[in-house]
Amino acid sequence: MSKQTIRILAFLSAIVLAAVGCGGDDDGGECPDNSTADQMMGAMLIASQCQGCHLASLTGAARNNAPPNVNFDTAEDVMNREGRIRARAIDSSGMPPGGGLTQAQKDLVEIYLDCGAMQAPAAPMPFGECPDTSTADQTMGAMIVANKCNGCHSANLTGADRDDAPVGIDFDTAANVQARAARIYARSVDGSTMPPGGNALTADEKEKLRIYLACGATQTPTP
Ligand code: HEC
Ligand code: HEC
Repeated sequence: MSKQTIRILAFLSAIVLAAVGCGGDDDGGECPDNSTADQMMGAMLIASQCQGCHLASLTGAARNNAPPNVNFDTAEDVMNREGRIRARAIDSSGMPPGGGLTQAQKDLVEIYLDCGAMQAPAAPMPFGECPDTSTADQTMGAMIVANKCNGCHSANLTGADRDDAPVGIDFDTAANVQARAARIYARSVDGSTMPPGGNALTADEKEKLRIYLACGATQTPTP
């Protein structure tokens, strides 16, 4: 065999090995385009749904029997156990114990893993407290989403009617809002860039929207 042939063979087998390494037992899918917000939600879910037991700083009873070496503090920790996270929390409903994740949550964690866990599992956004007896304020928050956001962010709108709001970023249902709560908070409560064009929410509207998010965005946005 010529040196040239050996080099080509070595190169080809490296590709084959790399492909096997990627497929492996992870069963990973493609990382969807424009999925940064979903990836972030997936990272937040690992924090909120798993770190309560699987965090290196937790010891003894605080771990709720989670094995001492199974921790998800960092993105690297997550990738090291990617296959097991898929098996226990996405392909089945064994983790967290007591019912597992909802399908919507599984989808977000899957996107996070499919995209290579680019973000550290971070604590949820600081939505703050859900005040007692705040149902009326929550209703107001849901109305604000309907009236101030869904003129662009509705699945009923297409083409120019969306005013450039990205296709798929819609807030018609409570589940839509929950799935993007962190981004809604970032853009419209913490920040003032949504609605765009100098039409940011007032301080009072921001507080109503915050309460709606902090209480889990359980109501459907309705005008
Ligand atoms: C209330 C505590 C608790 C929470 C929350 C929790 N776990 Fe666990 N986890 C455990 C316990 C207990 C075990 C050991 C028993 C077992 O494997 O079923 C475990 C074991 C594991 C293991 C190692 C065993 C294996 O099958 O490889 C993985 C991986 C895992 N959990 C993933 C997760 C993920 C992902 C989440 C969040 C979506 C999560 N866990 C949330 C308690 C918890
Ligand atoms: C006049 C149309 C319009 C209105 C009204 C509007 N948006 Fe948007 N929205 C856009 C456009 C255009 C983009 C894409 C450009 C960008 O991200 O700045 C966008 C993007 C977004 C995104 C995705 C990008 C990201 O940062 O994650 C979120 C979330 C969002 N808007 C939230 C809201 C919320 C919450 C409201 C109401 C409080 C709102 N928007 C009102 C037009 C609108």
